[in-house]
Amino acid sequence: MCGIVGFTGTRSAAPILLDSLKKLEYRGYDSAGLAIMDTGLIAGNKPEGTITVSKVRGRIANLCEKTCDGELLPGLTGIGHTRWATHGAPTEENAHPHLSNDGRFAVVHNGIIENYLTLREELIADGYHFESETDTEVIVHLIEMYYKGSVRDALIKTANRLSGSYALGVICSDEPGKIYAVREASPLILGIGIDENFFASDVTALVNHTRNVIYLEDGEFAELSKESIRIFDVSGQVIHKKTKRIMWDVQAAEKGGYEHFMLKEIMEQPGAVKATIAPRIKNGKVEFDELTDLIPYLPGIRKIIITACGSAYYAGCAGKYALEKLCKIPVEVQLASELRYSDPLIDEETLVIVISQSGETADTIAAMKECKARGAKTLAIVNVVGSSVATISDFTVYTWAGPEIAVATTKGYTTQIAVLYMIALYIGDSLGRIDGDYGKMVETIQALPRRIQQAIDMNPGIPAFAKKYHESKALFFIGRNTDYAVALEGALKMKEISYLHAEAYAAGELKHGTIALIEEHQPVIALCCNPSIMEKTLSNIVEVKSRGAEVLALTFRSNQKILSVADDLLFIPKVDALFSAVIEIVPLQLLAYHVAKENGCDIDKPKNLAKSVTVE
Ligand code: G6P
Repeated sequence: MCGIVGFTGTRSAAPILLDSLKKLEYRGYDSAGLAIMDTGLIAGNKPEGTITVSKVRGRIANLCEKTCDGELLPGLTGIGHTRWATHGAPTEENAHPHLSNDGRFAVVHNGIIENYLTLREELIADGYHFESETDTEVIVHLIEMYYKGSVRDALIKTANRLSGSYALGVICSDEPGKIYAVREASPLILGIGIDENFFASDVTALVNHTRNVIYLEDGEFAELSKESIRIFDVSGQVIHKKTKRIMWDVQAAEKGGYEHFMLKEIMEQPGAVKATIAPRIKNGKVEFDELTDLIPYLPGIRKIIITACGSAYYAGCAGKYALEKLCKIPVEVQLASELRYSDPLIDEETLVIVISQSGETADTIAAMKECKARGAKTLAIVNVVGSSVATISDFTVYTWAGPEIAVATTKGYTTQIAVLYMIALYIGDSLGRIDGDYGKMVETIQALPRRIQQAIDMNPGIPAFAKKYHESKALFFIGRNTDYAVALEGALKMKEISYLHAEAYAAGELKHGTIALIEEHQPVIALCCNPSIMEKTLSNIVEVKSRGAEVLALTFRSNQKILSVADDLLFIPKVDALFSAVIEIVPLQLLAYHVAKENGCDIDKPKNLAKSVTVE
């Protein structure tokens, strides 16, 4: 997904911007570029204010090479971009920054301009010449068209013409030393330094330089020079906003000795789940200070809808069982991209739980807005403080997973499920509907971090299984009930990072079609961690084995029946199945990781995938 950075100060801008762009690489991108303004104060041989653009296809490393690590672009002010193609192929022409025809403005943009075709026709009729196929280029020509000596006015007039989502970074050669930022439905954060200021679409690009930030909100504009930051609204009125301090450790955003971010993040799960759970358990009770205002609405709730995308959706599938069992409220889990267009039966009696690691997924935001418009109360489970989902929802519960860099989520997913378990206990208890042993359930939740660590330690054989299975044509994951929910995420992890065809099936459905695909040596990964349905899954294992399948079963060490039929085994410690998904997924994450490693894949940045999907 696209990334934006901007810098103005007394140091050479290009190397700083290149470094910040590298921090955004994890978001996924296909091209990159810089626009640097010569301030005439350092060894540039162009007039003050001249904007020079350099763009490449592919990695930031290519941009570093092309610009000699930024040395070929002298100047103290600039903007940079990583692009993930939407409108127009990933070419150098389509890469940002885009220049105005008179060379006075350069623009970088995240998001999508929905009315760009109409604007493009209008601008062409007015004599503007287009160099790219992007929706972004209309922005820079509009700015040129509206510019009558005030960049601020030109930006406001331009923004009034745009529909869609945009975070913009803009420089103007008439104003050396200034960078402008505009936000509408796409994240943008200002970084405050000493004698220098920054902006970026993601805090990870800023933390090397400053921890003092201002989050721009929709409809806000910012004008940054090395000594000041001015923020204004669509009417040009100056706004005063609070500075926030980023507490993330720089080290936490780096690999910390592991070969890949994904492995580091898998290993961080005991800590991440503990950080998420611990502050919410007080004197043996689950307490959510952030949800006290939800309590009065709970008796009127007739239905819970969970909506999300990708792994967050699968976290919802896994959490549904605990919510239904403990709250006695029917729960539906719906993909946000489907829900938003489904004219859903949602009203004031519905509680909508929205799950998103990034808090910026376009479909998730749209689904949430749709539900709010129909009167539902929205409760968001989010990992990024101040993100759009967190801002829009009525109630927000943060997962404390820390920054997640690998595109394929791991600790994001497990902390989301941990929160769902606790919300189930919290709502169920508030409504007086829990019929099991509440105290024991809280103890089970408190033990989850330890159990995750055990699941990591119990499976030293995973690299060997990866060697055995990595050349398979396909991998089938089967399970029932809570095991099926985990199988869905297990298969997704496998296909995302190893590019093997992996599918999850509810084990009982095998005989309705999928069994036709079972042949000699077909690997089947069978999840058998739910005792209530184990015998049934066992029959399915026998069915596939009798057709030649090789079964890798995931179960407890004491499960003699499974041990005797499976070819290979993955283990988890024994945990109440209602709360075991966060443990079960861990060996499957490790299996996917090692298979991907065997296949020589780019594990942290899988092809075609983006960490944060901020367009539809
Ligand atoms: C992308 C990521 C997935 C993630 C999904 C939803 O597809 O690659 O890992 O599960 O988006 O993202 P969210 O930030 O809303 O959880």
